[in-house]
Amino acid sequence: MKIIRAKDYKEMSGKAADIISAQVIQKSDSVLGLATGSTMLGLYEILISYYRNGDLDFSKVKTVNLDEYLGLHPSNPQSYRYYMDQNLFDHINILPENTHLPSGMVDDAEEECAAYDALIESLGGVDLQLLGLGLDGHIGFNEPGEAFIKESHCIMLDESTIKANSRFFDYEDDVPRHALTMGIGPIMNAKTVLLCVNGKTKASILKQVLFGPITPKVPGSILQLHPHLTVVADEEALLIDKF
Ligand code: GLP
Repeated sequence: MKIIRAKDYKEMSGKAADIISAQVIQKSDSVLGLATGSTMLGLYEILISYYRNGDLDFSKVKTVNLDEYLGLHPSNPQSYRYYMDQNLFDHINILPENTHLPSGMVDDAEEECAAYDALIESLGGVDLQLLGLGLDGHIGFNEPGEAFIKESHCIMLDESTIKANSRFFDYEDDVPRHALTMGIGPIMNAKTVLLCVNGKTKASILKQVLFGPITPKVPGSILQLHPHLTVVADEEALLIDKF
């Protein structure tokens, strides 16, 4: 595991964007596993600027996102498809057909999850998986539970996740209670994993994820077993007295 300390959010975003660009420059047809949430906004902005400056070419890149809310249409500004289009895809030269998220608009969530796993497999797996961290230690929407779940699955969101994510919605009641998420399998099978964490509210859970027991009660703790994990975190998330 490699931990890269950044001064603040801006520096974290820059360092993470540089790692992703290095991946794309090295392998122009990379499969990037992408994530949503406020953590990623800064680094997506930087990737867009690299593209605009002519330093990055996404024409052969393929992406698979971690998750999507069940029941949210892509035109809903709170959906993760909308987030990805608005904050990255619409501003770079990636082909829309090469961008993938689970669909939240399905009758049969299990069928959609199985199809999503088959899609990831058909792409040859993920080259670089970008991850944020939930306050309860979730990665994607793999919430704390009794076992790590390998396959993509439909999950009932934890109360703490609903509360945390309600800041993006008008009312807490509007936050969907279910989501589809990539399972632990493709994340752990990714050739490299890039975990980005910022802010003091995440310091304690980050310490558990990186140095605590490996347990499905803290889903991100499984990353300790990944052979190529890079963590980019700001000083607040890496509070000296907590590490
Ligand atoms: C959501 C997403 C996660 C993300 C997490 C942290 O629940 N499903 O993929 O990592 O939130 O979000 P934020 O970056 O806004 O703190």
